[in-house]
Amino acid sequence: MKRARATRAGDSGRRSMFPAAAATHPPLDHVPVLLDAVLAALAPRDGAVYVDGTFGAGGYAAALLAAAHCRVLGIDRDPDAVRRGAALAELHPGRLTLIEGRFGDMERLVGDIAPGPIAGITLDLGLSSMQLDSAERGFSFRLDGPLDMRMSAGVSAAGQNDAGSDARENAADLVARLSEEDLALLIRSLGEERFARRVARRIVAARQQSPIRRTGELAEIVRAAIPTREPGLDPATRTFQALRIAVNDELGEIDRGLAGAERLLEPGGRLAIVAFHSLEDARVKSFLRQRSGTVATSRHAPPAPAAPPPSFRLLGRRAIRPSEEEIARNPRARSARLRAAERIAAAPGFLGSGEPAGPVAPGAAR
Ligand SMILES: C[S@@+](CC[C@H](N)C(=O)[O-])C[C@H]1O[C@@H](n2cnc3c(N)ncnc32)[C@H](O)[C@@H]1O
Repeated sequence: MKRARATRAGDSGRRSMFPAAAATHPPLDHVPVLLDAVLAALAPRDGAVYVDGTFGAGGYAAALLAAAHCRVLGIDRDPDAVRRGAALAELHPGRLTLIEGRFGDMERLVGDIAPGPIAGITLDLGLSSMQLDSAERGFSFRLDGPLDMRMSAGVSAAGQNDAGSDARENAADLVARLSEEDLALLIRSLGEERFARRVARRIVAARQQSPIRRTGELAEIVRAAIPTREPGLDPATRTFQALRIAVNDELGEIDRGLAGAERLLEPGGRLAIVAFHSLEDARVKSFLRQRSGTVATSRHAPPAPAAPPPSFRLLGRRAIRPSEEEIARNPRARSARLRAAERIAAAPGFLGSGEPAGPVAPGAAR
């Protein structure tokens, strides 16, 4: 993975206060979700270093920078996000470093720049509004565009996909390559789509006529394959979700990111993760339960092998959900769940190699 146009400048020594005033952030195109709860979980303090592994529009990073005189390393695999973040870095000279890369590689990316202790790490999984609302990125079933879905393929100044930034297979190539059986498996496992077989059959029939290269074409094929309608849910939603997760190996990234965060955080350091769908959240929940020694066990189950000592303490037993007021203000927050934990002094656990904790879907790139 290409390392990034890091953006740094000298430190002005200025201190700003939370909530972020207009002067601490350029206008946001993405409304940060569960921002107050993320900030409360991270409890930023002066002089400490924080990692925002999903920088996006910089909403979390800006709030951290405003809340304490800390330093933030902002990672994003999307070159557009890194480019746009330069404006925020200029507002906080010397305190925000932007890194183009994947949070699954955070140990290496961060170690190169800030080898000292890391006081907090946050991940806000999924897509930004800018990615979702750009037809050219190919994530949206509402907007017609190239069937791309690579988070790391930015859009050039001419409005074309900047394919040169990533050799990863895009969604059109994945849809063209997989067998009907593997497509059905992928759509069922990563999209939780109960009509996955029908969808896969239609896709294969359609691609025999001509390659499927546009989001609009695929969305129509999927809609025609699904016999039922759920209020408020486009029938293409689950298939698009499945392809996006596979194209970007999002579940593998979560596993590697969690393992990296566990190794990077200092004792007392905080981890705050916002997930938007059940597959992501289940991954995070399972990791934190195992690493905090809070896995529920049945007295009828065979004795479990000795677990490593806990390396995290959960901050709250349940995930935090957005309030009705936040959802009314920002409907995209609807399905968000925040889980947070504090690193305690024990060696990192069993995910030391960054290996995924569960099955990997067919076609999921590594
Ligand atoms: C929901 S947005 C984050 C929004 C951000 N918290 C804010 O307040 O503006 C998710 C961002 O994470 C990035 N992203 C997703 N997966 C990533 C990964 N594995 N590594 C680095 N960035 C990733 C996406 O490109 C996107 O910009």
